[in-house]
Amino acid sequence: MTFLELAKKRFSVRKFKTDLVKDEDLQYILETGRIAPSANNSQPWQFIVIKDEAKSEDVNGLYHREWFRDAPVVIAVIADHGKSWHRGQDGKDHADIDAAIAADHMTLAATERGLGTCWVCNFDLEKTKAYFNLPKHLELVALLPLGYPDVEVDAERHSEKRKPLSEIVVYKQ
Ligand SMILES: Cc1cc2nc3c(=O)[nH]c(=O)nc-3n(C[C@H](O)[C@H](O)[C@H](O)COP(=O)(O)O)c2cc1C
Repeated sequence: MTFLELAKKRFSVRKFKTDLVKDEDLQYILETGRIAPSANNSQPWQFIVIKDEAKSEDVNGLYHREWFRDAPVVIAVIADHGKSWHRGQDGKDHADIDAAIAADHMTLAATERGLGTCWVCNFDLEKTKAYFNLPKHLELVALLPLGYPDVEVDAERHSEKRKPLSEIVVYKQ
């Protein structure tokens, strides 16, 4: 599978089988997050894995969708604003960018292993705050529910679902 084929294969999975995620698959996915690039190699992230008994009703309530509760694993991607690179010229904090790259590595790795995920950023702010109880410098960037998809999509859907290159690429004269 080429990278483009993998990228086209990935989609937001919102229907999961009840099968548990194999630990070797989970470790593989986490490893692809670990080796992700980050500004100044600061690696300003944590991945909190929620599975088995830890996947409680409290966790299901962090995002109020029926399909979210069906995912056997949730990876919470946390950005560490205390470790991230801040650009000297204007102080721009790169934590979110770095955490997003790691998260996207993991979503693609999941696809490669026959698993599915969906980026979830519209989580319940109050409930996630209470559940994770993070210190101020740590921020929940995304929840990645993970499991085996119980749904299929057309890998060629991007011809309709995405803007054409002609609309988004500009060649500077
Ligand atoms: C940063 C980000 C946040 C997202 N948050 C949510 C979310 O909270 N809930 C949800 O169902 N989908 C969420 N999505 C999924 C997008 O809706 C989805 O990626 C987009 O519609 C394209 O569809 P596809 O992923 O199937 O290609 C999010 C995606 C991204 C990249």
